[in-house]
Amino acid sequence: MSDYIKDKKIEDINIGIIGFGYIASCVYSLIREQRDYLAKKIKKNINIARIAEKDLKKIDSSSLAGLKDIKISSSASDVLQDESIDIVVELVGGIDPAYDYVHEALSSGKYVVTANKDLLANKGGDLFAAAEKNNVDLLFEASVGGGIPIIGPLKSSLASNNINEIIGIVNGTTNYILTRMEKDNLSFDEALKKAQELGYAEKSNPSSDIEGYDSACKLAILSSIAFNSRVTLKDVYKEGITGVSSDDIRNALDMGYRIKLLAIGIEENSEISVRVHPALIPADHILASIEDTFNAVYVYGNYVGEMMSYGRGAGDRPTASSVVGDIVKIARNFDRNKKGIIYGCSCFENKKFKSIDDTVSKFYILMDVVDKPGVLARIAEVFGKNSVSIESMVQKQRDKKKSAGLIFITHEVVNKNLSKSIKDISELDVVNEVLSVIRVEDLS
Ligand code: HSE
Repeated sequence: MSDYIKDKKIEDINIGIIGFGYIASCVYSLIREQRDYLAKKIKKNINIARIAEKDLKKIDSSSLAGLKDIKISSSASDVLQDESIDIVVELVGGIDPAYDYVHEALSSGKYVVTANKDLLANKGGDLFAAAEKNNVDLLFEASVGGGIPIIGPLKSSLASNNINEIIGIVNGTTNYILTRMEKDNLSFDEALKKAQELGYAEKSNPSSDIEGYDSACKLAILSSIAFNSRVTLKDVYKEGITGVSSDDIRNALDMGYRIKLLAIGIEENSEISVRVHPALIPADHILASIEDTFNAVYVYGNYVGEMMSYGRGAGDRPTASSVVGDIVKIARNFDRNKKGIIYGCSCFENKKFKSIDDTVSKFYILMDVVDKPGVLARIAEVFGKNSVSIESMVQKQRDKKKSAGLIFITHEVVNKNLSKSIKDISELDVVNEVLSVIRVEDLS
């Protein structure tokens, strides 16, 4: 223990960690390494008092040296029922049983810090109600963007702004895959394999990242705060990146675009549109420069204007940095006898959602067609009948004999009209296959 801590006899804030995996062990190391530094900064001593981990084999007790008297058990109840615990750090992940742990902690007047995006995106409303009822708070900076501060800034520094647009690249795995497809000329499967080898994508089931689920959870969390209205996972439209081909990446580059998996939240006339999908974005837009596993969140607020947060969106050290940041926020103002809400829930409105069918976007469409006179006219006729206006068209010869690749960029079009035209075009006998349909976001 440092002289500072001994001399000042500063107050202990007791932490109980539930779930001791990869992130939690880094939270533990961070607190151990930075304990004296933090004590000097915040005039409180962050003390890990208890750890609960169902699988005790995950805990190597010898590596827990350096903090005093940590009680370790396999039961979360030991943390939840310990009256001396001030802050419960939930790092179990998933909804069940994490929901019960967090709800019980809040209901018994403990603060909670979590990195759990599934929990917040699905059950955030109930948990904030429990926090408010008990005059404590639930902080979750690490649930979006790993080490990037974005939840705190949205809830405090940017609180005075009306935010009508939030656009994130919030999944490092997919951003890595798309970057490698572009830079190393890899197919989707090859880039996914590389991401799995490096531990970015799960080996057995990478679908949470590549199908857009992870980004959709994060968008639900961000949009709830940005638009002051609860957005849950089920409200978010999602498409992943499994359909993005090397041809799409090359075609996009040739036209001055790069393909990114975007999480887009827009509020217009009190209606919220929330969608996760790959998109062609202008190669010179700042979001196009976000590469590999990095994340960024771009926000437009009526006073701040444009702003963007950028950094490491995953990994144990960045995530632990955010978890401990939340602990510090609570600890700075901590008064055991007079608890209080730090940010609280900001969802005071109940806005409607715009259906994806009614959303307006530009589209990139790649199709393989028979190369003979009159084909283009027949395709153009279908687009015209469905009120889809074409901005540009390029023909590229494909390998197959008598087959041509047609690339269309549409003007802004209502999504349901585009879907109908793609269905009709797919049925034309001169169209071999509609290979890709990807939105284009000019982000201007
Ligand atoms: N799997 C996520 C990503 C990190 O690839 O960004 C955790 O949310």
